[in-house]
Amino acid sequence: MRVLIAYLSFSGNTKETAEMIADMLEADGATVEMHRAGMDFPVDASVYDLIFLGTFTWDMGATPDEVKDFVLEVGYKPDNVAVFGTGDTQFGGDDLFCRAVDKLARFYGSRWPGLKIEQSPRGSQEQRVEDWLKGVLRDVKSLAG
Ligand SMILES: Cc1cc2nc3c(=O)[nH]c(=O)nc-3n(C[C@H](O)[C@H](O)[C@H](O)COP(=O)(O)O)c2cc1C
Repeated sequence: MRVLIAYLSFSGNTKETAEMIADMLEADGATVEMHRAGMDFPVDASVYDLIFLGTFTWDMGATPDEVKDFVLEVGYKPDNVAVFGTGDTQFGGDDLFCRAVDKLARFYGSRWPGLKIEQSPRGSQEQRVEDWLKGVLRDVKSLAG
């Protein structure tokens, strides 16, 4: 299985989450390519069996411009996008928490609920990353027959 993990991270939390997902996928036998959304050379999204898109949220629930650039670069709505992200409930509480994750999951019509992590995924939230990823992989494998 060929997987793209496209993510944007400034202070490292989303990157840590992306790397955690990559490690788990590689342990499961997948080939993983990491991509810094809106920064690295654009990719051809159609060659991947599964695409993970990771973002932080900022500016009152906004999606970062680089992530929007990535969405434009891809140019269509792949039906295999799983969205994850990090945020901080101190910025606007539950209403604004990881709002960019919700927006992107809705935009892509993602079949999986977005994964929302409070700051760093290390520690108690690691299990949530693993459980979410297992759910995504279960669906993908059953769809592949
Ligand atoms: C100016 C600013 C605004 C922010 N606004 C939000 C927000 O509206 N919602 C949210 O969940 N997190 C918000 N955050 C928190 C970041 O999304 C959070 O720290 C995230 O983990 C950063 O990701 P990164 O470490 O990958 O860069 C904000 C942070 C900053 C600095």
